[in-house]
Amino acid sequence: MDVISVIRTKRDKGRLSPEQIDWVIDAYTHGAVADEQMSALAMAILLNGMDRAEIARWTAAMIASGERMDFSGLTRPTADKHSTGGVGDKITLPLAPLVAACGAAVPQLSGRGLGHTGGTLDKLESVPGWRASLTNEEMLHVLGTTGAVICAAGDGLAPADKKLYALRDVTGTVEAIPLIASSIMSKKIAEGTGSLVLDVKVGSGAFMKTIEDARELASTMVGLGTDHGVRTVALLTDMATPLGRTAGNALEVRESVEVLAGGGPADVVELTLSLAREMLDAAGLTDADPEKALAGGAAMDVWRRMIAAQGGDPDAPLPVAREQHVVTAPATGVLGRLDAYDVGVAAWRLGAGRARKEDPVQAGAGVELHAKPGETVRTGEPLLTLHTDTPEKFAYALEALENAYDIAAPGTPFTPTPVVRE
Ligand code: URA
Repeated sequence: MDVISVIRTKRDKGRLSPEQIDWVIDAYTHGAVADEQMSALAMAILLNGMDRAEIARWTAAMIASGERMDFSGLTRPTADKHSTGGVGDKITLPLAPLVAACGAAVPQLSGRGLGHTGGTLDKLESVPGWRASLTNEEMLHVLGTTGAVICAAGDGLAPADKKLYALRDVTGTVEAIPLIASSIMSKKIAEGTGSLVLDVKVGSGAFMKTIEDARELASTMVGLGTDHGVRTVALLTDMATPLGRTAGNALEVRESVEVLAGGGPADVVELTLSLAREMLDAAGLTDADPEKALAGGAAMDVWRRMIAAQGGDPDAPLPVAREQHVVTAPATGVLGRLDAYDVGVAAWRLGAGRARKEDPVQAGAGVELHAKPGETVRTGEPLLTLHTDTPEKFAYALEALENAYDIAAPGTPFTPTPVVRE
């Protein structure tokens, strides 16, 4: 087998054979295929696609590149969720302890933010003392004792994906449905969860900009999970505007704690409860009552234990950025649009995200939204507050926000987009 013939097959719109797929994934993982060769293949896949059989084999090869975890020693059923990534998407933070409070074991192997979308680990690292890296034994211990664990995936899980995802990120090949589906599902299947709920985002702040693409990604991933014996369902959810009223690390932790305390923004509460119901159903816990677990404080109890089990202090004050800049509304009227992508880029430029994998993030940086689409705003009143430790970044963030919102005349009817679209 040689890599040039594999690249040519896909470049010329052919089907990759199972042998070609197994060989190229293994050779790339072990360094026998170079990054530039794999980039050419990834671009050919982005342009010419893969059919379901090719995607299934590609996923299986990525799973086989590393170890598989085993949760069979746990007494509770396992339930996991994965979001395809968005702006202000802090849902994992209240969701994992909520579902654990209802009787499931929730292993959340999470990632860091890259580009305009935030990462769960970066958010949680703003909690003083909290540690993202656990050994497999520590992870099982936290999961077994608190019911939920949110931590970094170990290096042994789907190492082919780790390498390939980093390469796609710098070669403009992230947005290929076969590559996204196999990337996400190889990690989830290798992780060994019994059930999985996929939150497939659609809109400007998501990888999938149209509902048709989101449907295709969702059905591809559900098919892969089901074929590997994982009970898998998907919700298509809105990412045209940020979730909640914050995008940033500590800012989003604070908002998540508000949700766990029984408050918080309505869209965050609604999506948390919708995903919790799906996870509990998929785990066979159909009698559980997530509304009660949230309102009664059981989810907050699990959150506190889960944070403390990873060295965090749930009572410590969260970091606050050194500088703030308020953007005021230029007119009175109804906020018609507040763009998720633009807000995500602004938060990223303020220091909440990173440009390269090894860059640090600022815990306090981000954007606070004082109004959501459909709400009335008044001339001169705060619309957004920008937070950063490096005020020279304000101008750069403001540039990203130049066309981020529309204000319609007072009284203009507004039709909200449902949080859960399908
Ligand atoms: N998240 C992943 O884990 N992989 C992708 O390809 C895209 C989003």
